[in-house]
Amino acid sequence: MKTNPFSPSSPSIPGMFAGRFDEIIAIEKILLQTRANKGHGFLLLGQRGIGKTSLLNFLKYQAEGSIETVEETLNFLVIEIDITKDTNQYTLIRKIETALKRKLAKTEKTKKLFSDIWGFIGRVEAGGFKINTSKDSDSELLFEDFSYSMADTLNRITNKNSTSIFEASYDGILLIIDEADNASKELQLGSFVKLLTERLQKEGTQQLMIGISGLPKTKEILVESHPSSLRIFEELFLDRLNDQDVRYVLKRVMEHCEVLNQETTELPKESEDLLVKLSEGFPHFIHQYGYCAFDLSDGKSISVANVIDGAFGRNGAIEKIGDKYYRDDYYNKIKVDSYRQVLSIMAEKLDDWVSKKFIKGKFKGSETTLNNALTALRTRGIILTKEGSQGTYRLQDKGFAWWIVMNHEKDQKKQQSV
Ligand SMILES: Nc1ncnc2c1ncn2[C@@H]1O[C@H](COP(=O)(O)OP(=O)(O)OP(=O)(O)O)[C@@H](O)[C@H]1O
Ligand SMILES: [Mg+2]
Repeated sequence: MKTNPFSPSSPSIPGMFAGRFDEIIAIEKILLQTRANKGHGFLLLGQRGIGKTSLLNFLKYQAEGSIETVEETLNFLVIEIDITKDTNQYTLIRKIETALKRKLAKTEKTKKLFSDIWGFIGRVEAGGFKINTSKDSDSELLFEDFSYSMADTLNRITNKNSTSIFEASYDGILLIIDEADNASKELQLGSFVKLLTERLQKEGTQQLMIGISGLPKTKEILVESHPSSLRIFEELFLDRLNDQDVRYVLKRVMEHCEVLNQETTELPKESEDLLVKLSEGFPHFIHQYGYCAFDLSDGKSISVANVIDGAFGRNGAIEKIGDKYYRDDYYNKIKVDSYRQVLSIMAEKLDDWVSKKFIKGKFKGSETTLNNALTALRTRGIILTKEGSQGTYRLQDKGFAWWIVMNHEKDQKKQQSV
């Protein structure tokens, strides 16, 4: 049996990465600025499965110098951190310290130097410090200690104003914080990054570049924590890939397939076209449709029928996509048919704003039922209301809208594709 070359559940490896040229250039510029001690951050937003983590992986390799940038090879120390619902400022600081330690404290000499700089962690631990239950002044002191240690580390790894330095010298530190939409209120992520950046600046170093990534709501989380925290970031919003990029992904996956299995599998033009059409530029759709089609194929060639059955069949790609990303919102949070009807009507306009009048024109049911449905969907955060304009709503994202459409018109679409 052949190994399936599609990987719907893991971020893209650099060799199979497509597109995002503008974003890569924008971030490269910030990396170069950071190296020149004039850094700032970036905020990478996008809906689920759009390719945030994949792009961050690519950037990481670039920043570390394993892939060349357009201009030159870089040498950043990269730390990657995922935020969970339980992350507080103390665990965030610990995660950063642990990641730095792994990269910097390798010999006896550097271990000693590292623990001299980051000694406050040990004192905090010995004192049984608990950030969320302790006094505000404690958290403030913790933050102070942390930012000084960070400034000190930066100066020593970039060989600035210091006699005692680490063994390798770097262009700076790239701190990548993914899944930032998980950030809790207590974490105060917005003020954390804002104050850290300002403190480092005061200490004369702007060679820390912070990249924060997550769902679009991350922006509100940051603003809520600190109104002007967005100022330190360049904002990048990831949208769908274009058809050319999708074809490139398919080409690279099929090449990878040959390496994996030491035998070629054909992807005829008609099958490729259909995969492009179905995936609508959503990276996670490409891999999921491809995966299911490959699974049903004879391993020699992926036929049009394989693509169709893989997409629409039982346990097919559409079901899998829904299970992974949307079923919770669509089925589990709302059990009432009228709610789902509203979503289907709204999905006709994808994630564009839709007026209540439009929905009412198509809704089969009483006005009270419609009102109840809209209220329920709003309070559960499944649909969004336009600020300052009553009676205008939209779905959270295009992927969700597509899934609703696909799910509803499964059979209809199936006939169209044949
Ligand atoms: N630019 C790209 N080129 C090729 N494949 C991609 C690209 N971006 C994403 N993918 C593929 O799409 C899928 C989802 O990507 P990824 O996990 O990076 O998305 P994400 O935005 O981080 O999702 P989540 O919101 O769930 O964290 C993966 O299978 C990945 O391989
Ligand atoms: Mg991700």
